[in-house]
Amino acid sequence: MTDRLKIDYCGIEFRNPIVTASGTFGFGYEYDEYAPLSEYGGIGTKGLTRKPREGNKPPRIAETPSGVLNSVGLQNPGVDVFAEHIMPALSEQFDTHVIANMSGNTIEEYAEMAEILSGTDAAIIEMNISCPNVKHGGLAFGTDAAVVEELTREVKKRCKKPLVVKLSPNVTSVAEIARAAEAGGADGVSLINTLLGMKIDINTRRPILANNTGGLSGPAVRPVAVRMVHEVYNAVNIPIIGMGGAICAEDVIEFMLAGARLVALGTGLFMRPGMIFDIKQGLVDYMDKFNINNISEIVGKLELNQ
Ligand SMILES: Cc1cc2nc3c(=O)[nH]c(=O)nc-3n(C[C@H](O)[C@H](O)[C@H](O)COP(=O)(O)O)c2cc1C
Repeated sequence: MTDRLKIDYCGIEFRNPIVTASGTFGFGYEYDEYAPLSEYGGIGTKGLTRKPREGNKPPRIAETPSGVLNSVGLQNPGVDVFAEHIMPALSEQFDTHVIANMSGNTIEEYAEMAEILSGTDAAIIEMNISCPNVKHGGLAFGTDAAVVEELTREVKKRCKKPLVVKLSPNVTSVAEIARAAEAGGADGVSLINTLLGMKIDINTRRPILANNTGGLSGPAVRPVAVRMVHEVYNAVNIPIIGMGGAICAEDVIEFMLAGARLVALGTGLFMRPGMIFDIKQGLVDYMDKFNINNISEIVGKLELNQ
């Protein structure tokens, strides 16, 4: 569309700052009919685990005001299928960077997966330490700064691609966890994953989700996400992928002003799978309005009230 949207992230050039959030975009190809994948800067693929997973029992999606509660529980075909079949097909058919998301039960599993994914065409490996919907691993890793630092350091030893650590909002200080990831050698951080929530059927007195709790996403969480991106931007020097309820160009700009270099679209794609076109146009209109040459100029340019 225009070079003015080009932006680098971890030394990789993205044609624009818009990517997709893991778990909301499958492995990409099912969305290609709404907008060619080459319209995005990159795509985040469904969270992979060492072995295939069926995920949690249904119901595992519930609508909430301006949001969605999900307890999918990392349903995926496993990292080997991705490395052997899905990633080669993606790179043959589509011209876009792939951010491969992974989740482990142990440090060894995370490290092994990073090694396997390093042998693929994925541009970036995103390490999910923040899934609220699995019993072991996931969030258990993401809430303790010392564990995050050690995990990141061990995974980095076997990771040959830029490693982005995906942070949870379900912590007291997201900045402290981001600093731990940076200290462990992370090349970037992404945030936010979903906020732990619950919805109750008042007639049965039972939670709607079979898993009882789930992760909240969508516009309802956006102000929390923007605040956390701002806090992390002030805490670390590694680049940020911001996400949480972005559904239009104004939202993407908000995340970038708060400090994100890339912004992921997630739950909003369920409503408007082709929204990438309007969003890119909106970014260009904003740049025209404020005489901005390249979109990277706005990253972190939030001016706080005194
Ligand atoms: C149905 C669903 C599945 C998700 N699966 C994953 C996943 O596998 N790995 C991951 O890191 N995040 C996962 N997420 C979290 C999203 O990537 C994102 O961090 C979160 O939804 C906030 O962005 P959004 O409000 O734009 O959706 C999932 C979210 C949803 C709604």
